[in-house]
Amino acid sequence: MIGVGLLGLGTVGSGVHQILTNKRDYIKRKLGEEIIIQKILVKDVTKKRKYHVDNFLLTDKFEDVLKDSAIQVIVELIGGEEPSFSYIKEAIKRGKHIVTANKLIMAKHGEEIVRLAEENSVKVYYEGSVGGGIPIIKTLNESLVANKIERIYGILNGTTNYILTQMTEKKVDFKDALKEAQNLGYAESDPYFDVSGLDSAYKISILSSLSYETFVDVDSLYIEGIERIEPEDIEIADELGYVIKLLAIGKRLENDKLDIRVHPTFVPKNNPISRINGVYNVVQIHGDTVGEIMMYGQGAGEMPTASAVVADIIEVAKNIKYNISNGLINNLQPHTLVSIDEVENPFYIRLMVNDKPGVFAKIAKVLGDNNVSIASVIQKHRLTPVVPIFLRTHPVKEKYLNQAASELSMIDDVREIKNIIRVEEL
Ligand SMILES: NC(=O)c1ccc[n+]([C@@H]2O[C@H](COP(=O)([O-])OP(=O)(O)OC[C@H]3O[C@@H](n4cnc5c(N)ncnc54)[C@H](OP(=O)(O)O)[C@@H]3O)[C@@H](O)[C@H]2O)c1
Repeated sequence: MIGVGLLGLGTVGSGVHQILTNKRDYIKRKLGEEIIIQKILVKDVTKKRKYHVDNFLLTDKFEDVLKDSAIQVIVELIGGEEPSFSYIKEAIKRGKHIVTANKLIMAKHGEEIVRLAEENSVKVYYEGSVGGGIPIIKTLNESLVANKIERIYGILNGTTNYILTQMTEKKVDFKDALKEAQNLGYAESDPYFDVSGLDSAYKISILSSLSYETFVDVDSLYIEGIERIEPEDIEIADELGYVIKLLAIGKRLENDKLDIRVHPTFVPKNNPISRINGVYNVVQIHGDTVGEIMMYGQGAGEMPTASAVVADIIEVAKNIKYNISNGLINNLQPHTLVSIDEVENPFYIRLMVNDKPGVFAKIAKVLGDNNVSIASVIQKHRLTPVVPIFLRTHPVKEKYLNQAASELSMIDDVREIKNIIRVEEL
């Protein structure tokens, strides 16, 4: 019998409890061993729960879980940084294996946790932290282990993908799409973590750390959210053959520097990523031997995430049952991140300008003087004295584009630079 202590019985914790209870016999048959929840830590033991839970399992004291000698695996599903981080460390020091779905902790403290786990001969699994039900961590750790990973592209946040999908399909603006996502329970009342790109950044930092055998500090990444995307950007992207997605990118460059970032991106319509809509997540990976692979599925939610967490619990249980203590060696190497200034992309620029002769010539001169070469120009709606101009550039380093943008904003007839969005030719 393998004893489990659950920390948290919210959305994911309830799903895990449901699976381990309802599929107890099935899991026993598969594993040849029973997995039993011994204790569940919650904040409020008197709270009314969605599913039936035996009262004697509940506690609001972490020590009750920590000190229970029948518990070999602690499953952290509280979320946030504290007290979860301290609980995980204490549990490891007590010789408990860890399963968590906490992206924040793995992205910020993954290196320390993995080192501590190695020192204490226990395992840490975190499949639920990236991509909900998509088994991407196991794929990177096991199925693709013989590959040198060259690039990762991901839509790793369902909330923002839902909002962008609504803006694209229903032609609504950001605020309305966000409101709808909140009404449907796809977005939090405080949506900052999702719409700012931070959630995706935690996830791409975890995937990049694994893929590039290093520890990527999320605070060092370039992160841009979707708040500034307007229906006009989406409309013109469509005309040019692109869809706007909040793309998480993790690339190993030829000089072995890492290029890791999250931002709204023009994704070509002929790449399958452009067709991943709604709350779905996707990860596209390029490995040197396997080539391109892609996995997509529900990136969050009670049951998809619980599916990943329970798979991790079963993996730990298998290790315990067969006394497997050694895994792959975590030989983390230092890395150098390429500065965002040095990253080279084509760009899309949307400007509002006075509708006068000679204005475009001034814009073209500023761009040319800053090494920015124009690939295409669209001008529309000649109804008012101020008109929008849409430019697409050839690939150019971000620092040149930024300098050009700052000079463009000083031209009198340029009323406003509405948006600048990177184009990724995937
Ligand atoms: N929700 C998803 O779709 C999803 C997807 C992927 C990953 N995750 C990750 O999974 C983890 C759990 O998320 P969730 O959505 O299930 O969270 P949640 O619904 O907010 O549940 C949190 C649980 O932790 C308990 N808790 C909170 N603070 C506590 C404290 N100080 N001490 C003891 N217990 C405490 C709560 O107790 P009470 O029940 O008594 O309030 C609740 O049961 C997070 O790391 C999240 O990022 C979630």
